[in-house]
Amino acid sequence: MIVPGSSSQQLAAALAEETGRSLATPTYDRFPDGEGLAAVPDFDADEAVIVAATDSDEAWVELLQLQDAVREAGATDVTTVIPYMGYARQDASFGDGEPVSARAMATAVSTSTDRVLLVNPHEAAVADFFDVPVETADAAGALAEPLTADLDDPLFLAPDEGATDVAATVRDAYGDGETDYFEKHRDRETGAVTVSPSDATVTDRDVVVVDDIIATGSTMSESVAVLTDRGAARVLTACVHPVLVANAVTKLSAAGVDRIVATDTVERGCSVVSAAPAVADALDSP
Ligand code: R5P
Repeated sequence: MIVPGSSSQQLAAALAEETGRSLATPTYDRFPDGEGLAAVPDFDADEAVIVAATDSDEAWVELLQLQDAVREAGATDVTTVIPYMGYARQDASFGDGEPVSARAMATAVSTSTDRVLLVNPHEAAVADFFDVPVETADAAGALAEPLTADLDDPLFLAPDEGATDVAATVRDAYGDGETDYFEKHRDRETGAVTVSPSDATVTDRDVVVVDDIIATGSTMSESVAVLTDRGAARVLTACVHPVLVANAVTKLSAAGVDRIVATDTVERGCSVVSAAPAVADALDSP
């Protein structure tokens, strides 16, 4: 039985459809003092597949409650699918006295699940923080589906070197075009991003900037602005995880983005393609 977290209701339904599993209908309530209560009153199965993006602190707590709830209801086989893993970018202690937050979250989630499935984790190494077997699903290829077939001499550009694999995956799925990447610098104090253009010619070309995640939109908006200045025809952005906090969408629009394309690992207006097929493959692979 598929058990959706409140942030992953569309993806969970798509996964139920994709895999032929039934869909539980959890309730998500909140007490006057602010404490949440997630429950699964109609859970009736041995196997639970919880699908819950952890894009907020509340979502982490809700996930722990759903795990405990299905155990309480008799589940003997629990898989926890984390479509978007918040805190994955805090994968080290970056300063004196700082925690390894990704490890803290992974340890907590491991206590009541038999395995974990992550979709495009920001760093593959976060899998090592869990105390149960971890599988990963790659949903990046699906980002090629909503791109129109008429991209002109397309360039699939990663805004930093770490995103080159994701950009190459989208290019391969699209079936045409070059890949390249920018050098990126982020000021840790201010969060301001600067990108150093690559050598690739972009004049009059359609450029798809591909990243695993858009959070504040600083990386993407800076990339879009630089590409627009350099004469790109259309600049589109594609990402697996459209976290898009605060004014990220406006920053991208102001920079001149033509279109934002993303999956439903985080459910937003630009989530035009589902990660469900990739998750289903990983879930039911022997
Ligand atoms: C960084 O390594 C990631 O791939 C993204 O580029 C980054 O997390 C995006 O963050 P923001 O949207 O806040 O610039």
